[in-house]
Amino acid sequence: MKNINTEIIKVNSKNPENKIIRKAAYLIRKGDIVAFPTETVYGLGANAFDARAVKKIFHAKGRPSDNPLIVHISDMRMANDLVEEIPKRAIPLMEKFWPGPLTLVMKKKKNVPDAVTAGGNTVGIRMPNHKIALALIAQSRTPLAAPSANTSTRPSATEAKHVREDMEGKIPLILDGGRTQIGVESTVLDLSGHIPALLRKGKITKKDIEKIIGPVADRTQKTRGRVKSPGQKYMHYAPKAELVLVRGGVRSMRNAVREFRKKDPYVVTFSERKNMYPFAKKVFVLGKGKDEISAAKKFFSVVRRCDASGADVILVEAPSRRGVGDALYDRISRGAKRIV
Ligand code: TXA
Ligand code: MG
Repeated sequence: MKNINTEIIKVNSKNPENKIIRKAAYLIRKGDIVAFPTETVYGLGANAFDARAVKKIFHAKGRPSDNPLIVHISDMRMANDLVEEIPKRAIPLMEKFWPGPLTLVMKKKKNVPDAVTAGGNTVGIRMPNHKIALALIAQSRTPLAAPSANTSTRPSATEAKHVREDMEGKIPLILDGGRTQIGVESTVLDLSGHIPALLRKGKITKKDIEKIIGPVADRTQKTRGRVKSPGQKYMHYAPKAELVLVRGGVRSMRNAVREFRKKDPYVVTFSERKNMYPFAKKVFVLGKGKDEISAAKKFFSVVRRCDASGADVILVEAPSRRGVGDALYDRISRGAKRIV
């Protein structure tokens, strides 16, 4: 495919400029891809009912075609166009968490293209809590199929410049709405079977969901060789450098830094004292006191920065597993070559 010109336009995320949104929606209507911010990470969107446009996404990302896409909606009518029937349990979850970082997997209607669902009979839907995303979907007058806007297996994009790093020359437009709020992708919950099942961890936790609908099965780890969420079987969120997840706080980190000192390790940590890691090439602080909210927000951008400055090894201190910290821990461990 020949390189195309990629335009980046700054958009006001509190009050998106109509003219820019109209331009982006025009591209969507004519079957192109547009990158846009959501509250979790940037997405790479195409008209969900246009199989040709959706295939362009897989091409741009280098994504295996057996991994289905999440469809983003801006109002409930769009959900009815996508699913046979909204399951009873979905309603209180939608009321509580939409718009927001929760994707619900339900039985799809026939008209949803196989390209979106990877040939499966379910579709994952979410209503993002972001004004630019909502305006773009509404103005496009169609739901948007949108994966995270990174090259397949790379860390997700939480800033427009990350999207450019991966998508320059491959897509016509990136809407730049600044840094994303949450920084890890949405929670994915499967409501298509008898028992609700968690397929991917996110800011909304299993407990948060259980408070509303009762018991939920955890299928986020590979079980008996079968993966429920196809996306979970691939290497994910991986920097170019060797990423090592370091549990056990400062003392283990000091040991790890010493062990890797010949490789000029980069350290990603929660401890702020100066000169704590004399053998480290560079130290990035994710937040104070294992603050998981700030860490989740910064993590992907920090590992991309380590990569950009040529790191061979990145040692990452494990965050607290409270709230979104558990999802962050999950992402770090999936991107890691080793856990010590
Ligand atoms: O926060 C997010 O969810 C971001 C933003 C852009 O909305 N999107 C995102 O999409 O993370 P992606 O494609 O990178 O990850 C989607 C995940 C994959 O693990 C995929 O396998 C799973 O959701 N998924 C999507 N549709 C599914 C379905 N019908 N059944 C099971 N898993 C599904
Ligand atoms: Mg992704």
